Amino acid sequence: MATQEETFKKMVAHCKEYGFVFPSSEIYDGLGAVYDYGQNGVELKNNIKQYWWQAMTLLHENIVGIDAAIFMHPTTWKASGHVDAFNDPLIDNRDSKKRYRADVLIEDQIAKYEEKIQKEVDKAAKRFGESFDAELFKQTNPRVKEHIEKRDALHERYSRAMNANDLQELKQIILDEEIVCPISGTRNWTDVRQFNLMFQTEMGSTADGAMKIYLRPETAQGIFVNFLNVQKTGRMKIPFGIAQIGKAFRNEIVARQFVFRMREFEQMEMQFFVRPGEELKWFEHWKQFRLKWHKALGLGDEKYRFHDHEKLAHYANAATDIEFQMPFGFKEVEGIHSRTNFDLSQHAKYSGKKIEYFDPELNQSYTPYVIETSIGVDRMFLSIMCAAYKEEQLAGGDTRVVLNLPPVLAPVKACVMPLVKKDGLPEKAREVMDMLKFDFKTTYDEKDSIGKRYRRQDAVGTPFCITVDHDTLEDNCVTIRMRDTMEQERVSISELKNIIAKAVDMKQLLRKLTAEENQ
Ligand code: GAP
Repeated sequence: MATQEETFKKMVAHCKEYGFVFPSSEIYDGLGAVYDYGQNGVELKNNIKQYWWQAMTLLHENIVGIDAAIFMHPTTWKASGHVDAFNDPLIDNRDSKKRYRADVLIEDQIAKYEEKIQKEVDKAAKRFGESFDAELFKQTNPRVKEHIEKRDALHERYSRAMNANDLQELKQIILDEEIVCPISGTRNWTDVRQFNLMFQTEMGSTADGAMKIYLRPETAQGIFVNFLNVQKTGRMKIPFGIAQIGKAFRNEIVARQFVFRMREFEQMEMQFFVRPGEELKWFEHWKQFRLKWHKALGLGDEKYRFHDHEKLAHYANAATDIEFQMPFGFKEVEGIHSRTNFDLSQHAKYSGKKIEYFDPELNQSYTPYVIETSIGVDRMFLSIMCAAYKEEQLAGGDTRVVLNLPPVLAPVKACVMPLVKKDGLPEKAREVMDMLKFDFKTTYDEKDSIGKRYRRQDAVGTPFCITVDHDTLEDNCVTIRMRDTMEQERVSISELKNIIAKAVDMKQLLRKLTAEENQ
């Protein structure tokens, strides 16, 4: 059986082979941690965005959307704290000339202890069989106890150094733990330095005095600087939210795990403005609603968990991540943050403008508090692909690769196929496709055997294949084949729209969210 790592590699290769994701500018050997979405990837991504956008702006009459520019006045980033504090601690290996994130090197070392512990547990579980008690074993086995103590001590020392921003201590930990460069194998490390993650460029010609500007590292600030514009023009009453989907850019040093950590990526962010003092109630509300949004896709409830932050940013009074079980462990897909009134206050301070809300019910003005929900489109895409990619053993020794994508998100909803390329079947198939294409993304395929065509559609996750045969010309019926069960059914052409709509309708998914919310 393939390990999770092998399956992940295959899934990544599959994404390229079937037009989901390509390395950026691949003919020039690509660009690190930058990817292009292909013909199927863009459809899946658009469907994810549509699901998020509609869940925000259709289901909540007090949430509206905007689309702010990527370039913003540079003072925005001074006010938000990104110029001074959006840093990663970096360390270079003098022999390989490779650069690493010091915190990632240490986290990898913690993960190594965890692997050692797990290995011992797995070995013992095999030896002792059914009666094995993993917890008791961890508490009593001397070797495991030693690994656990080392892991915990390292974790504590590392957290302390990060909290205190102590770069010297981070280097000392790397030396004490005897962490080597994976390329050179040596411990010839430089000091640890802070490195700002924002990309910079210039606006205007140098003669006019060019202005240093940044590519936004998050979309959120476009919402904060438009707070008054939207509140006034939309006559919005607190509590209300502003949603946005857009590109963000970070000069990530450690870019790995495919589209998990990219230098150019997309965020879906919503800032929800509330009365001071009510933020923790809303924080809890949005935590639950966002988890529901994820679970409604049916990828498996057990694949999600909250990870509450112990270390809070200085402006936050609560924060949690929604983590998804990727093949490389539970990883953050979305962040939910109670950001107090930090951002609006900072923009008021730096712009000199009064950014407040007059609350007619309280007859009082205040700077609203903010709950933020922030999810990466690309990470969401990755979590869906990881859950959907399956290599199935079929009866008769055959195998198939199938993407069990939630039908509502599938790039193509139906593929219409004439059984043979003659006898008027292609024309009839085109007729069926012309009828469906106004409602669903539909494709047409007449090449190769039906079996091969089914496999091609399984590989891109198409929920329905529709075959037109000679009988169709007589009885106006077709064979519809379901992706997940591979079952086939003979149905009338007039029923097709209903059958497909029932499975892929976004409205049904949205109704699920409100139905559960009202319970
Ligand atoms: N406005 C808050 C904010 O940007 P964040 O935790 O830095 O918070 C939010 O980012 C989400 O954006 C993450 O949960 C993740 O899904 C996505 N994200 C962040 N950095 C990313 C990267 N380098 N590549 C892909 N997605 C990223």
